[in-house]
Amino acid sequence: MSVKPMNKPQVEAATTVAGYMSGFGNEFATEALPGALPQGQNSPQQVPYGLYAEQLSGTAFTAPRHQNRRSWLYRIRPGAVHQPFRALPAGRFHNRFDETPATPNLLRWDPFPLPEAPTDFVDSLLTVAGNGGPEAQSGIGIHVYAANRAMRGRYFYDADGELLVVPQQGRLRIATELGVLDVAPLEIAVIPRGVRFRVELPDGTARGYVCENFGAMLRLPELGPIGANGLANARDFLAPVAAYEDVEGDFELLAKFQGALWSAKIGHSPLDVVAWHGNLAPYKYDLQRFNTIGSISYDHPDPCIFTVLTSPSDTAGTANLDFAIFPPRWLVAEHTFRPPWFHRNVASEFMGLIHGEYDAKEATAHGGFLPGGASLHNCMSGHGPDAASHAKAIAIDTGKPQHIVDTMAVMFETRLVIRPTRQALEASGLQADYWRCWQGLARHFDPGRR
Ligand SMILES: [Fe+2]
Repeated sequence: MSVKPMNKPQVEAATTVAGYMSGFGNEFATEALPGALPQGQNSPQQVPYGLYAEQLSGTAFTAPRHQNRRSWLYRIRPGAVHQPFRALPAGRFHNRFDETPATPNLLRWDPFPLPEAPTDFVDSLLTVAGNGGPEAQSGIGIHVYAANRAMRGRYFYDADGELLVVPQQGRLRIATELGVLDVAPLEIAVIPRGVRFRVELPDGTARGYVCENFGAMLRLPELGPIGANGLANARDFLAPVAAYEDVEGDFELLAKFQGALWSAKIGHSPLDVVAWHGNLAPYKYDLQRFNTIGSISYDHPDPCIFTVLTSPSDTAGTANLDFAIFPPRWLVAEHTFRPPWFHRNVASEFMGLIHGEYDAKEATAHGGFLPGGASLHNCMSGHGPDAASHAKAIAIDTGKPQHIVDTMAVMFETRLVIRPTRQALEASGLQADYWRCWQGLARHFDPGRR
């Protein structure tokens, strides 16, 4: 049976962007058919158009009001209508972070290859590293995708965590229960835990990073003395307007549950939500909207100044996950080593590169930190600019501003040690000589020269 195209996203009268509603964690209300949203109560006996009412809760019922996230979905069939799940054999998308000893070594990977055989988004997910796990609802999974086929008649949800999707190459059309997100490289999408979706590939192929957040939902970081504006501004986050599929067929519903994939037969598209309201929704954000803040006198602030979204842990000020970016920006600090400095950190850092060159690592003929690749710097492992970047930064005239253009690096930083998977350590793209990039940092010490 063929799948009819999804309804064209409806334009909400109150929005400035077609197909989207602006704001972070706002109470949205949207309907793909006029009058589909019940008024005055969430679950009347009879919902307009013969729809069912279903609540989707992303936080505990009793979470404090300012953190409570839930939406009411008005749909053709409730989420329970499908056959039983059966466990699928273990694959490359998992949460087994104890397969190998965690390593203090600095690791870097070449760009992850695109598939040769037809592979859709969910089948292409390759787990690279992670920590914690879904059972404790703490930690993160780090995955990459590299796909060349649209998900057709296949739908997926992740009960283990929300998904932060970071496209590196090729656009994604993420059709979710709550509407459609069109996401391109330099944008991100976040799909809440449990929301069902499928992914189409408008460019035929796509590659990128996925951070699976087992912990508290991502939110905007506190701004402290920065004030009410800056970093990622709430109005730049976009949630989709309601759009639905009304199709029947022999379809598959995939679930990720406690680290494993499960499959159930479903006789209809689960993307059948005609209207919804609430503050739990998928959203997207254009990283180019990030208001980068840095020193205008001297010294380099800590890299948390680049935080886009954060998942707090139970320890105040200590994140389960910080999602940070290193976008184009001006460097103007005087008498200052301008690239990210040498450091050792209690947190652990996994980095990816969307495009261009990262200012602490040179791309070289034999590899380096390349778009679509990745690096891992674990707790207390010393790192920083490579020898070539250091030499450049020491020689530069800091009386002149420097414009870093054409770059976008991303970082998943977490308080727990990041444990690479066996398949990541055995990948052919793991760079055996990464450690050498610091070995050219020569001794300059001379006790006779102050
Ligand atoms: Fe670092």
